[in-house]
Amino acid sequence: MARPASAEEMNRLSPAVWPTSTRRQGDGALEIGGIDVRDAAAEFGTPLFLLDEEDLRERARRYRSAYMEAGAHLVYYAAKAFLATSVARWVTEEGLGIDVASGGELAVALRAGVPGDRLLMHGNNKSMAEIEAAVAAGVGRIVIDSFEDVVRIADAAARAGVVQSVLVRVTVGVEAHTHEFIATAHEDQKFGLSVSSGAAQEAVRRIAKLPSLDFRGLHSHIGSQIFDASGFEVAAARVVSLAQRIWDEQGIEVEELNLGGGMGIAYLESDDPLDVADMASQIGEIVAKQCANEGIPMPALAFEPGRAIVGPAGVTLYEVGTVKPVQLDGGAVRTYVSVDGGMSDNIRTALYDAEYTVVLASRESAAEPMLCRVVGKHCESGDIVIRDAWLPSDLVPGDLLAVAATGAYCRSMASNYNVLPRPGVVGVCRGEAAIVLHRETLDDLLRLDPGA
Ligand code: LLP
Repeated sequence: MARPASAEEMNRLSPAVWPTSTRRQGDGALEIGGIDVRDAAAEFGTPLFLLDEEDLRERARRYRSAYMEAGAHLVYYAAKAFLATSVARWVTEEGLGIDVASGGELAVALRAGVPGDRLLMHGNNKSMAEIEAAVAAGVGRIVIDSFEDVVRIADAAARAGVVQSVLVRVTVGVEAHTHEFIATAHEDQKFGLSVSSGAAQEAVRRIAKLPSLDFRGLHSHIGSQIFDASGFEVAAARVVSLAQRIWDEQGIEVEELNLGGGMGIAYLESDDPLDVADMASQIGEIVAKQCANEGIPMPALAFEPGRAIVGPAGVTLYEVGTVKPVQLDGGAVRTYVSVDGGMSDNIRTALYDAEYTVVLASRESAAEPMLCRVVGKHCESGDIVIRDAWLPSDLVPGDLLAVAATGAYCRSMASNYNVLPRPGVVGVCRGEAAIVLHRETLDDLLRLDPGA
């Protein structure tokens, strides 16, 4: 990571990574959604997630309209990225459905008042209780992920006296990530039913014999943080050719094709994901072309973006606790900046070598840039939030740091490591701050311990 040329460059807020309402106030402190980050930290404590409601809603609208234009019948928000009732309401108001992957996510969506038919349920090991809850809620689509699912969902629907619409999740041997994808003839992973072994077709055969199930189509999710459409091209070719075989051999039409989520976002200014309008139209054209080649009608499409809706709308605020210069071999100095959270609120750096953008948020500084490693307060050296960052050399304990693009897969993957209460999430919009998720308290954690 190159040294910023000047203090101004270091203080600068790249629109590629910060929520649209982020700006520096006259005195240099950051403001998001019209809220001064110092006020948010004082009122709600740190670490704290701020969610820019307008930014999130705007993304939901943009993704929805781009995919609808490309032939989608419904765009689902993938709740795993982050879910709370307010977020479920916001995305529903913007016309999205919600993809839930557990009974817990289903319960939150229902609590938010999301109509059952706007929901889709995933899971490679749904419990009977989760399936029954989904059927009872009238979930629009349940995605079948195993032969056990076929029997269990059919049974739950029959007992409830309903016909449940289902998709079959297929694995096509494509694994995509950023600009690269790997395409193989085999599918060595836990999700879905494989195309090459004939398992996917066998599932469709079994579903067709069960009167409590209505086969609607196929589902394929090829990965996450994807920057271009090339992986989708290979996946679509394989899924569409499967659809053709299902039609040919079983006379069953694949009416829907859900291509999952995975659209990438910028974590660094240098990240350059394809714009959603281009991504959507390219995927739409790819599927149309493949269908024309195979001589089958174009199915209605569906998508499940998670990260792309909520990721860039979220920011983490931390308070600096210690600033420790460490001499490196060769004489250089790296300054370890410890914050009051860490791998318990952002595991992505430790888990995926994820990279983030950080700025000094409580003030602006004209001091020279210093090379830092932003680390957490947990008891292991891998507890790193940002491996390499340039921060002002006058950084002191008590300063606030803001980390960009933490709305997805940070709070949702948070843990209580070292018995740390998980941070709260606050929605900010036009100068109003509202709690989206309360900060956990020590009492919340002690309550689970019988104390015996
Ligand atoms: N649909 C399905 C079936 C999925 O498995 C996923 C993500 C999505 C949709 C949403 O993908 P998105 O648009 O958010 O990329 N924890 C990892 C990401 C795991 C994604 C798992 N599945 C991370 O922090 O990068």
